[in-house]
This record gives sequence, C-alpha cells and structure tokens, in this order.
Amino acid sequence: MSKLMLVNLKCELMENPIGMDILKPRLSWEIISDKKEMMQSAYQVIVAESEEDLMHEKNVIWNTDVVATDSSINCEYNGPTLKSKQRYYWKVRIWDENNNISNYSSVAFWEMGLLEESDWEAKWISCNIDRANVYKPNNIMEAMTPQQFDDSSFNQCPYLRKEFEISKEVESARIYVTAHGVYDLFLNGNKVNDNLLAPEYNDYDSFIHYQTYDVTKHVSCGENTFGAILGDGWYSGFIGVMSINQQYGEDISLLMQMEIKYSDGTVQKIVSDESFRSATGPLIYSELYKGEKYDARKELVGWNLNGYNDSNWKECLIQNFKKDNLIAFYGEPIRIVKEFKPKSIYTSPKGETIIDLGQVIAGKFRVKLTGKSGMQVSFTCSEITQPNGDFLMNIMGVNKDQKDIYICKDDKEVIYEPRFTYHGFRYIKVEGYEGTFSVDDFTALVISSDLQQNGEFKCSDNRINKLQSNIFWSQRANFISIPTDCPQREKAGWTGDIQVYASTAAFNMGTSAFLSRWMKSVETEQLEDGQIPMIVPYMKDYSTLVAQSMGTHSSAGWGDACIIVPWVLYNTYGNKRALEDNYHVMKKWVAYIERTASENIIDVKGEMTPERKERQKYLWNTGFHFGDWLAPSLTINEAGEIDMHRSAFLSKDVVAPCFYAYSTELMSKIANILNQKTDEVYYKELNQKIRKAFADEYISEDGTIQGGFQGIYVLALEMNLVPENLKLKVVQKLVDLIEGNGYKLDTGFLSIPFLLDVLYDNGHKDIAYILLFQTECPSWLYEVEKGATTIWEAWQAIKPDGEPTNVSYNHYAFGCVGDFIYRRIGGIQNTEVAYKHISIQPDFECGLTSAETSYKSVHGLISVQWELKDKKVDVKVKVPGNTRATVILPGIREEIGSGEYQYQCSI
Ligand code: BGC
Repeated sequence: MSKLMLVNLKCELMENPIGMDILKPRLSWEIISDKKEMMQSAYQVIVAESEEDLMHEKNVIWNTDVVATDSSINCEYNGPTLKSKQRYYWKVRIWDENNNISNYSSVAFWEMGLLEESDWEAKWISCNIDRANVYKPNNIMEAMTPQQFDDSSFNQCPYLRKEFEISKEVESARIYVTAHGVYDLFLNGNKVNDNLLAPEYNDYDSFIHYQTYDVTKHVSCGENTFGAILGDGWYSGFIGVMSINQQYGEDISLLMQMEIKYSDGTVQKIVSDESFRSATGPLIYSELYKGEKYDARKELVGWNLNGYNDSNWKECLIQNFKKDNLIAFYGEPIRIVKEFKPKSIYTSPKGETIIDLGQVIAGKFRVKLTGKSGMQVSFTCSEITQPNGDFLMNIMGVNKDQKDIYICKDDKEVIYEPRFTYHGFRYIKVEGYEGTFSVDDFTALVISSDLQQNGEFKCSDNRINKLQSNIFWSQRANFISIPTDCPQREKAGWTGDIQVYASTAAFNMGTSAFLSRWMKSVETEQLEDGQIPMIVPYMKDYSTLVAQSMGTHSSAGWGDACIIVPWVLYNTYGNKRALEDNYHVMKKWVAYIERTASENIIDVKGEMTPERKERQKYLWNTGFHFGDWLAPSLTINEAGEIDMHRSAFLSKDVVAPCFYAYSTELMSKIANILNQKTDEVYYKELNQKIRKAFADEYISEDGTIQGGFQGIYVLALEMNLVPENLKLKVVQKLVDLIEGNGYKLDTGFLSIPFLLDVLYDNGHKDIAYILLFQTECPSWLYEVEKGATTIWEAWQAIKPDGEPTNVSYNHYAFGCVGDFIYRRIGGIQNTEVAYKHISIQPDFECGLTSAETSYKSVHGLISVQWELKDKKVDVKVKVPGNTRATVILPGIREEIGSGEYQYQCSI
C-alpha cells in the first residue's frame, strides 16, 4: 500500500494565522506520496474548538464527511458561524485514486479576531502634545522645489504607558491593536511585535487594519507595564513624491485591547483609555521618507517597566474615531527579512566616510557607536555613488533626505536602529562621528512584507543568475505593505507597475494574501465614475494635484490592474474569491472606459466618414495616459535630452485601445468563470468590435501600425488585435524594428512583459534570446554588467560612459522578464488553474547549458533540472501530488502524474 502524507496545511494560504475576520476561510493541503501518479479522489476535513475535541472527534463543529473531489486547495469552511476570538483546530485526511486512505494530518489551526464592533471596549486615545503644521504645496512643481523645513516641521513621537495588575495564573493573552500612524508595543520592557510599521498602509479613509498578537509569554502574575511608541507613518507623516503630510488626519492615536484569559476561565481586559499616560522622548521625528532624528539625551530610562515615575507625563485624550471600519490585518506583515554585514567601508576622494552594503536594499541599518554627550552623528543613505566613489544622493525632491541622525548622551557604547523609517539604499555616508567606524559596527537590515519565497532559478550563465537575483531583490524592496514603484522617492502603490510585474511576482513569492489585501484598497479607492486611481492608496492631495496637472485620475494599463492582478491570483493560486470580490470593481472600470471611449471622439487625420465615426466609439484614444511609458527611443526629445513624459504623449492614443481590448477579453473569461453568462457575451462582443475598430483604424495593409514604435506591435499581437491575414506582416515589422535598433530593447512599461513571448510564439525565439542576452544599453544584461544589484527605473540609470543619473535604482517593473525565464528556460508552465496541470517544456536552445528551476505551487513543489552535454540533455522533473503534467522535450511527449522522473534526449 502506498504511503500518503498531508503537509503544509494552510488557512488562507497562511500557516496557522491568528486574528482573522474572514468568515469562510479557505483550507489547503499538500499531498506527498511514495507512489507515482498520485491523485486525490476524496477528502474529509474536521474542525473543532479544542485540540482535544479534534483528537477525539467530539463536539466537532464541522465535519465535511467524505467529499468526492480531486480538489485539495481552497476548501471553503462551511460550518456554523465563526465566533470572535475563538481558535479553530482542524485536520484532514484524503483518499487517493485507488481508494487508499491516508492518516489524518497533524493538527493546524486558525484563530478569529474581534468580529463585532461591540467587541471593542478600547477607546481611541491620542496624546496631549503639540503637533506640527500641515504642509500643503499648491502644485506639483512647488512640491518638488527645495523648501525650508526644520525640526519643528515634524512631529515628535509620543510614548504611552500603563501599569496594570495581574492577580491570577494566565492561560493566554492577546493584544488587538491598531493606530492612526504606526506603532511599536512593549510589555514589561520587551518588544511585543516582531513586525514593523504596523498597522501598515491602506486606504485609511475607508478602513483600518488591526493586528492581533499572542502575548501570553510577556505577561505574568503581579505588576505589569504596557508601553507603546507612535509615529506619524503614512497616516500623518510626509509621504509621496510630493512629500505632503496629514493625508489622513492631523493627530496620531492608539486603539489597544489586551484580553487576558486566566486558568480559572475568567477574563481581564486592559483597554486604551484616559488612564494611559504619554510624553515625548528621544524621537524628535521618525518619518518614513525623510528619516529619523534621535536625541539620546532625552531618553526616558525605564519608561516601559514597572515603577517608572510618570508623574510628569500627561493623561491621554479620548478620541471619538470610528470603530466600525476596523478590519483584521490579512497576510504577511513587514519584518526584517534578512540581516547582513556591509561589504566595505571607505574614505571617498572627497574625504567622506562611506559604508557600502554591496547590495541595493530597502530597509535600514543597525550601528554600534560611542560618543560624548551632544555629539551628533548622521547617516545619509543613497543607492549610488559617483564613479570615483564620492557620495551622490540620487533621490530628488523635498523631505527625501533618507538621513538618520543620532545625538549621543554619554560615552557608553550604544546600538542604534532607526524605528519608523526605511530607505532605499546601498551606501551610507557618515558625518559628525569623532570615533572610527569599522564594517563590523554596521548591520544591514532588509525589510519587506514577509512573503514566502516560492520560486528559484539558477543556470549556467551567471549574468542571468544575477538578473534573477536583481529581480528578486527589487520585489523584496517594493513589496512593503503594498506593491510600490520604488522604496525611496515615492514608495507609492502605482497600479501600472504591479500590473506589469504581477506574474513574475507570483513565481518568486506567495503573493495571494499580499495582493488580495491591496485589492481591497483598489476597491475602496475606485472613484464614483469607475476610474481606478494611478496610485492606490490614493493620497488626497494627489487626487487634487495630479488631476489638476493631468486632467485625469487614471491611465490605460494602470487602472487595468484591477482586472489583471486578480486574474493572476486566480490562475496562480486558484483564488476565485479575488475574482468574485473584485468583479464589480472590474465592471465599473470597463464601463468607465466604454463611456470615455464612446463619448470622446478624437480629431482624426483625414476624412471622418460615418463609418469611421462609428468605429471611433470603440477606440479609447483620448485624454492623458502614460502610454508605453519609458520606451527608450520615445523618451529622447528633439534636442537629444531625456524627457520621460514624451513616451506617454507619443504612444498613448494607440496603447490605450489595446488595453481596452485586453481588459474586455479578460472580462469575458472572468464572467465565464463566475457564471455570468450575459456579461460573458457582452464583453466578447465588445471585444470583437474594439478589435475590428483597431485593425480598421490603425493597421495598414502592409502591416504598419500607427505610432510605429516596437511596443505597439507587441501589444497588438499579444492582445489579438491583428487580423490573421496581416499577422505575418505585422510580425515582420516588429522584427525589422528590433533589427534596425541593433537588437537592443525599445519597449516601454506596458509592452515589455509580452515582448519575448510575442517573438517566441511567432517563430522568432532566436530574437527573443538575442534580446535577453544583449549587453548593450538598453538591455537587461547591460544593467547587470554595469554592476546593478536590483532592477533600475531607467535602462540608462548609469550611462554607458559610467555617469550615474538621479533616477531610482530599485523599480521592479522591467524585471517582468522573470516570468519568461521561469516558463521558457525553466520550462514550468501553468496549464490549468493553480498548476493542477503543468506543462514541462524547457527550451534547450536558449543558449544555456543547464538550468535548475523550482516552484512551490499551492499543490506542492515542482522542479525541472536540465543539463546539456554534447547535444545530449539530461532532464530531471518533479511533479507534486494531486497534479498532472505534460512533458514536452525533443522527441518526447508524455503525460505524467506526480513523482520524480528522468529523461534523456538529443537536440
Ligand atoms: C513612478 C512609476 C509610475 C510612473 C507613472 C513614476 O514616477 O515611479 O513607476 O508608474 O511614475 O508613469
């Protein structure tokens, strides 16, 4: 009999989550078998409120009995209504295709948070201290111009404390907590939260996340002290490219409820109220973008321990903020995900002391220092230096100093780590230190939302390995609470960037919870008229200032993220709820496009015949869009200078209609999945009309497409806009353009994700590989050869002559090629939702001699290793339990089930 093992039990794709408020959580498991071709034929899940009950199958609250299905993911809880604060234990067993039955899995659990508003007895409290003024630039230009700011422009971080008594033996203790701003919590001097910048970032105007912590180990019988430090964070601090503060509110505040369950069954609650006291201390300010100033002379020694004299602290003030908008935090929190020692420390030609981490990161540092009272040491962070090693601040704009300042209090050695800030950087310039630093005094702290790494790719060409590593680093640096464009200048949820990158992201990491959480803000930020803002969360002043300068809140290829991101989540993780929850958002967005396209008719060149007028209704070609943003040749103006916006104006009118077609095509597929038959037909017909209108208006008989830039050929081909009879000609035009450009990249943000596949699928995979292996600028390996450790915002961030420019060195968008590498070179392709069926088809003609690719799918680990020697290839394949695969190799085509396989073939 075969041995079956059930592992990696997940609830909402997370391991034993606590503090949830999803009323129908979805359960998944992976199946390991010692036998090949294993498929599940049925399962049984049992849920109980205690581990004991589950073990004895008594007082069971949900027993599915035998459910005949081969589905082992997203099994939706469908038992009695889940209760606030209750932990639910569950186990599962399965039957295989021969009716062999497995043992029960080991026990897993999930725990609910506070489900009702009435569960919150805590009061919102703020601190009775003066707050800095609001800063409101009048327009974008003003916001980008240096201004005078001093310490008083920013807020000091308040410290809060409360002593309380525990009189009995504690069984368990939880803290449910959130803030306007960001918080760190302490119990008896110990830090409670291992996460950073909670409650994190979302559309606070609509809802606020709260976190749940198990603090059982931090409390004990007798006197206890709760402490909290608050920072302005995204709520009230200076944020965004324009550096504007108070986007959500003036005051920061805390809402905290601690529930202590005693062994005798009674419960004590410690809740935030007016008995909490607060004061300011050493944190003069701690701003997300600007950095932090810490004056150790103002430290409040022992403030978070019992017996501290807080008589000169002030009572906290009760605030009447809402509690009906609290949502349990969902997904992985931001954490320090990696620590490492810098590569070197050196003195630059200018005489500056500079620490080089050797890697561009998003995060902060920890430093050991000693200095006399009043000595002010500053640490300024940047991603690049001058070619001679002199410091260069690459981040432009107001309050983007990325500078942390520490003022010493005595001659004792201290360890300093900035609290509520993070930077995008590789280099740290130190000023004002009278001692001598060595590399060992510094530790780099990499921060990121702590997503599981799912994909790995290694091959025989180290430059491609470096490219893969750079992509991964940029994802880490920009998956910080929300998907951001870059971790320094903007830290903003640009919708276009994640749209372009979502597929690669899903190969590298488990993105389901992270992006579903962000989609909730997409939903709430959608405007009445259906527009999806360019940035989500959409800061208030952006909505006025951006709209003022651009005349719109959204853009083709950016707003479409509301369809594309859930589509990727569905296909990768089987997350159908991402489609269901966002379907109304998608429909409203497409309706907006439809109205905009049909009501605004462009002034066409040539005669406007009635026929032409009719077709114009199906072309979304008016208003501002970012177009094929940053397509290299389109960014160079007549004077030979770089003008990023030029790419938008030159390409938008033809690029936007492509996305109209793409989104309606996806909508008809999604409607089908959601069983919305009328919608399915509607979107299909609309899509056909758009495609016909596009072809009639923009594609000439010789295959030329209006605009004539590479990206438009790629988009038109990918998005099915080219009539069959013109396909060869259109493909040839693209090939000619690439050839004419010396096989260097000339595609922008929106088209580049499809470039290599379009070539591949249209008989030109040789060109796809020339582009991939190209080392001249612009190209992926150009960056690698210029020493990049992340993906850059612009290809020529470092010019061929070595001169650095002031752009971001950490934008993942152009890293979207990762997806192609996994699928085509690695050979792992998802051919049925959630990798239920896989196609294994690595390409041995890619120019490499070996590749090892692995991907942890929701069904388990898939891996493909191949090695080419003397025209012979050895291939090793691993297929997870309960899935099937088609292996396609030269001369071999085989249907297989789970297990490990080896092949040999010749090329
Ligand atoms: C951001 C982007 C974004 C773009 C919009 C830039 O400032 O960094 O990556 O998508 O603006 O065009």
